[in-house]
Amino acid sequence: MTATIVINGTAQPLPADPRTSLLDFLRHDLGLTGTKKGCDHGQCGACTVIVNGLRINSCLTLAAMHEDDAVTTIEGIGGPDDPSDLQNAFMAQDAFQCGYCTPGQICSAKAMLDEIAMGWPSDATADLTAEVTCNEEEIRERMSGNLCRCGAYANIVAAIRDVAKERADATV
Ligand code: FES
Ligand code: FES
Repeated sequence: MTATIVINGTAQPLPADPRTSLLDFLRHDLGLTGTKKGCDHGQCGACTVIVNGLRINSCLTLAAMHEDDAVTTIEGIGGPDDPSDLQNAFMAQDAFQCGYCTPGQICSAKAMLDEIAMGWPSDATADLTAEVTCNEEEIRERMSGNLCRCGAYANIVAAIRDVAKERADATV
């Protein structure tokens, strides 16, 4: 039986070459070029994808290590015809300039908001006994692995805060 990996809900056969990184598998083998290769060394976050709900740098892992795992790339989050709330917020806040880092920023932001919703603390969480809130310090700390060479950080933080607020308002 062929070993597979689930990409945006569709099972795909793993690459024949076990040395293929998850990033190269997505971009070169599957043509999912939304995920970007920035540094290829785990330093920029441009290649961030979500694996089984958690964000990882896809340049630092081999596709073969993810048999049966569920991977979500930016294409699985939304596209021009059906943007997610985060993608809409990034557009509304003008949270990109060249946009190269944006897919990784949005994948990271999606998983980061889920981490906060689950109550996971970060290095910026002052009180470990209190409910974790999505304030600016938490966003900056949790997004610190995603670099933007254009310096659109202020707008990225604003976009994520908008989504956090919208989601909180929707639950009350
Ligand atoms: S390309 Fe993976 S962290 Fe930069
Ligand atoms: S928008 Fe250009 S690197 Fe982030």
